[in-house]
Amino acid sequence: MDAILKRRSVRKYNDIPIPKDVLVDVLISAQFAPHSGNSHTCRLVVIDEESVKDSVSDACFHQTWMKSAPIFIVIASNLERMEKLYGKRGVEVYSNQNSAAIAENMAICAMSHNVATCWVSAFNEKMVAQVLDIPDNFVPQIVMTFGYSSEIVPTPVKQDLTALTYLNKFEGGGRFNNIDFLFKDYSDVLRRHLRRAAKTTKSTGTFIGKKINKILKK
Ligand SMILES: Cc1cc2nc3c(=O)[nH]c(=O)nc-3n(C[C@H](O)[C@H](O)[C@H](O)COP(=O)(O)O)c2cc1C
Repeated sequence: MDAILKRRSVRKYNDIPIPKDVLVDVLISAQFAPHSGNSHTCRLVVIDEESVKDSVSDACFHQTWMKSAPIFIVIASNLERMEKLYGKRGVEVYSNQNSAAIAENMAICAMSHNVATCWVSAFNEKMVAQVLDIPDNFVPQIVMTFGYSSEIVPTPVKQDLTALTYLNKFEGGGRFNNIDFLFKDYSDVLRRHLRRAAKTTKSTGTFIGKKINKILKK
């Protein structure tokens, strides 16, 4: 949870190399990601050469900020094999999901070593493939930058848990208004409602309010 909550998309990096053992951990985290049918259809290209990084960041529609990262890792998927194994769904769905599982594993693993990342998907696939000599049966799907952050990135607003999550069914009755309900724990909700009621009644100074406050103090 620490690494997940701490991870931010970082676009400014210090000129400090990533230790080899950290990089190896990141690659192992990719190796152990879930993968459709355990089919091993992805390949990783680790990039540490300045000239190659320059060309890749150009292929990412000139996202020049990328160049400050000491390492890029490009995830490429063998679409030919995905088609043979799973047809259209393999090409359109599983392939992207396999790459995404690898990317997120690597991002969290890197963050657990205090190495920041940014997931980059805005790029010209043909250009990236050309720069890296990726064969025709593969397609690059995600470029990730890795390095020690030189910026403090505030946490962007994330979706409220209760808006993000449904219980058992999507909409129409499947909604719950408080995350505690998911765990069938109503105590916190009740406590909060009681406190709010007490506050309101206290401010109005009614007799019943005073009584509730007396009870809550006990
Ligand atoms: C599929 C995908 C594509 C993305 N592409 C880019 C990109 O091309 N350039 C970039 O700077 N950030 C890119 N991002 C990073 C998002 O902008 C970032 O995750 C989002 O703003 C939330 O910020 P956070 O990662 O700090 O939580 C991408 C993220 C995802 C998941």
